[in-house]
Amino acid sequence: MTRRKLVLGNWKMNGLRADASAWASAASSLAGECSACEVGILPAFVHLDTALAAASGTRLMVGAQDLASWTNGAYTGEVSAEMLGDIGATHVLVGHSERRHLLGESDEVVATKFERALAAGLTPVLCLGETLDEREAGQTDAVVLRQLDAVALRCGAAGLARAVLAYEPVWAIGTGRTASPEQAQAVHARVRGALGNLDAMLPGLVRILYGGSVKAANAAELFAQADIDGGLIGGAALVPSEFAAICRAANQEG
Ligand code: PGA
Repeated sequence: MTRRKLVLGNWKMNGLRADASAWASAASSLAGECSACEVGILPAFVHLDTALAAASGTRLMVGAQDLASWTNGAYTGEVSAEMLGDIGATHVLVGHSERRHLLGESDEVVATKFERALAAGLTPVLCLGETLDEREAGQTDAVVLRQLDAVALRCGAAGLARAVLAYEPVWAIGTGRTASPEQAQAVHARVRGALGNLDAMLPGLVRILYGGSVKAANAAELFAQADIDGGLIGGAALVPSEFAAICRAANQEG
């Protein structure tokens, strides 16, 4: 397997400038220390500049949490893929469940955002995941594969080859209720299988991160699973000692 582990810290709508500065400089030293894996942070738009300044000249990657589904123009309050690329962001989350469920983003909108990210040279981090009701109704695979298909139809295997995927069961996000390593691995394997049906080169290439209450205490077990290529970390990314322990666990797995 040549897929390098990747850990991304999703700060969500947290932190003031001083926090952003402290978290980003802690993450940049960490990225230097963890040379066997990759580390990135995803601050709110207003903190991107602060984070980019701290990351400058280090291995730390900086990305955004969202982007507009339009190109530049009269869309008050929106931020385009082109703007993100221009300031030096390299990654962008697409279809995070908080946006799908709290802000009503459809599979269509998510596919458009994914397309915009690629067009601007950004790496989209496509989030997939089922709600608790969907899991209990036995629909986990169907939901996750439907979310993947919407993007595959629009951007094809060539588009997915340039992306990172993140499986984040909605019931595990911010709840302290992590999917067990076996539960997560099972979905990751299904997603990787679906990638293989699209193109034989995708399974070896595309990283699938796990997200949902990852913390120092459970990271190593999750990252040891064959199809888990790292983590998308929310709450624990705001606690530098926790985030450091998670990145070190990924680094150990290489
Ligand atoms: P959590 O969030 O680690 O706080 O569960 C993960 C995410 O939403 O990306």
